[in-house]
Amino acid sequence: MTCRAVVIGVGHYLPERVVPNSELESILDTTDEWIRARSGIEQRYFAAEGETTSSMAAAAAREALRSANLVGDDIDAIILATSTADLTFPSAATMVQSAINMTHGFSFDIQAVCAGFVYALSNANALIVSGQAQRILVIGSETFSKIIDPSDRSTYVLFGDGAGALILERQEGHGTSADRGILSVDLHSDGRLRDLLYVDGGVSTQTTGYLRMQGHQVFRHAIEKLADTAVNALTKAKLSSYDVDWIVPHQANIRIIQGTARKLDLPMDKVVVTVQDHGNTSAASIPLALSVGVSRGQIEQGHVLVAEAIGGGLAWGSVVLRW
Ligand code: UT7
Repeated sequence: MTCRAVVIGVGHYLPERVVPNSELESILDTTDEWIRARSGIEQRYFAAEGETTSSMAAAAAREALRSANLVGDDIDAIILATSTADLTFPSAATMVQSAINMTHGFSFDIQAVCAGFVYALSNANALIVSGQAQRILVIGSETFSKIIDPSDRSTYVLFGDGAGALILERQEGHGTSADRGILSVDLHSDGRLRDLLYVDGGVSTQTTGYLRMQGHQVFRHAIEKLADTAVNALTKAKLSSYDVDWIVPHQANIRIIQGTARKLDLPMDKVVVTVQDHGNTSAASIPLALSVGVSRGQIEQGHVLVAEAIGGGLAWGSVVLRW
């Protein structure tokens, strides 16, 4: 018998405030045309005053619980991927734990920037397969609007806020790629590339800082590394790109998404795309895309999905799962 971590619930949350490109034209030397052409982004959401990463994560978690017909105490672990936690500590995950009335188990945050949700899925899979947890809430939630520099047009137009959540449950499988659940994982990082994307502040410098990115350099790394990691994960799962129903990529730039699909020899109608509506929500972008993909009727039970992401570190990776 093989144990698998199978998705049994999904949900997301977006703040009320929509920020269209036209609003940014009035505060920065930019145009709607440039933002759409270079990134594919048409709008993003910004959290309201007082709305935090943990409050958005809790809203997404409640929706995932509702979709699975479960309550907080049916969950025994929470893993929250974020680079924008409410406080230095405790973790945003423990705040979600109390918000959903989960009175046992354990919870913690993971920080791998835009690759955070893929890292979180990998950790959740390991906990489930090793028998340390039966049901895990895996969340990505970010308030990047708080760390983008309003005077830097090259980054301010790209990012947004939001949260998405999945519930993974330990179920029996046959150990083949026909099983439902997480089939393989492939993770990487290369700290030599840390200056390409970072925040110039933090606890030990007593500042919050702003996101700094050499966008063009990150772009150069993205397509190749994303396609390579997706192929690695598919090979580990004994599948090929022809078995894939949906690529669910990190939503940073439509040109990266298209370039990666092309390298994998997959048409764009096999790619879940939300970047136009959400912008880049870092660790929240994949669970948001999964939840939207389900509500649009794209992702169905039994489909083979590849989730892939790259971000600050650089850190990147992918997960293959059968929904
Ligand atoms: O989520 C983590 C991973 N992050 C990513 O994957 C992001 C990767 N990078 C990208 O998506 C793209 O590199 C960007 C969208 C950030 C930029 O697109 P690009 O085609 O690489 O443009 P560029 O940075 O080479 O800039 C081209 C021009 C520059 O002007 P000059 O030097 O050619 O005169 C910029 O100053 O566009 C200018 N520019 C802008 N113009 C209008 C930069 N930002 C803006 C702006 N509006 N907002």
